[in-house]
Amino acid sequence: MITARDIHKSFGGIKVLNGVNMNVREGEIYGFIGQNGAGKTTTLDILAGLSRPDGGFCRVNGKDLSLIGYPGDLEIGYLPEEPKFYPWMTALETLEYLMDVRDPKKAQNLLSMVGLEKSEKCRTGGFSRGMKQRLGIAAALARDSKLLILDEPSSALDPEGRAHVLDLILELKEMGRTIIFSTHILSDVERVCDTVGILRDGVVAVEKPLRELKGLDDGWVYEISLEGKVGKDLLVKLKGLSCVIDVWEKKEGIRISTNGSSFIALDLMGVLVENQAGVASFHKERPSLEEIFLQEVSLK
Ligand SMILES: Nc1ncnc2c1ncn2[C@@H]1O[C@H](COP(=O)(O)OP(=O)(O)O)[C@@H](O)[C@H]1O
Ligand SMILES: [Mg+2]
Repeated sequence: MITARDIHKSFGGIKVLNGVNMNVREGEIYGFIGQNGAGKTTTLDILAGLSRPDGGFCRVNGKDLSLIGYPGDLEIGYLPEEPKFYPWMTALETLEYLMDVRDPKKAQNLLSMVGLEKSEKCRTGGFSRGMKQRLGIAAALARDSKLLILDEPSSALDPEGRAHVLDLILELKEMGRTIIFSTHILSDVERVCDTVGILRDGVVAVEKPLRELKGLDDGWVYEISLEGKVGKDLLVKLKGLSCVIDVWEKKEGIRISTNGSSFIALDLMGVLVENQAGVASFHKERPSLEEIFLQEVSLK
């Protein structure tokens, strides 16, 4: 659905995108993550045909982006980061007039899909940021486009609103849509995405199926609770082990992310015994997406 190759973009001499490559496949949910200012919005604006790249090639919805006359030709649904509406129009009017939804039933249906059925007759000027975000999603769905590009669809919402939007994204996938959305909330990506792309230093540093990413290098995290204080030398020795990527001091112990080498537990135990650390529990688990993300960001 989307192929981007070697996309470059600078603003006033400052390089934001420095060779972005992306592949979004039909029928999947693609989570586009990166720190604030990484260039997610810049990339999505280019993919939506709203901004021209300085260099590179993009094919979106089967169309070469350099050949389209105006963004509407792409036939995609797009949610901007901060959707704006005419404040004097109601939610229903916004869909009917602005988005040209001729059938009032369809407009009502779209509003109930995003949980705004009770506010359909309210003017958007009084809407909270979250309500505008929902209306923006309804607007992005108005054209029944197969491809949806959503810039931070859940970021402005409270936990309940976020859960609702994520469920809606899953529902849209079931209906055969392809969705790419950006976010800095990693747990949202973890909940719904098939593929994850991590934007860092102007490139997509990692693009992998979520399941593969979560088992990255067969990495494991060890959570060790200790009786008594965590000694400085213990931390230094643990950090010095070749299998250890990072060590975090926690309230009652330590958390250690490791690579996939063998005998890790034995190596860790060896250091703990040597330092006469009082081990209360020793627990092994898969890293969270947040830990993987931090590793990816700090490694390279
Ligand atoms: N129109 C613009 N003019 C100048 N700088 C911009 C413009 N749009 C984005 N930038 C800069 O590009 C960088 C990436 O921004 P953005 O794409 O909004 O990041 P993200 O969405 O990942 O937070 C930021 O440093 C931002 O200040
Ligand atoms: Mg952004």
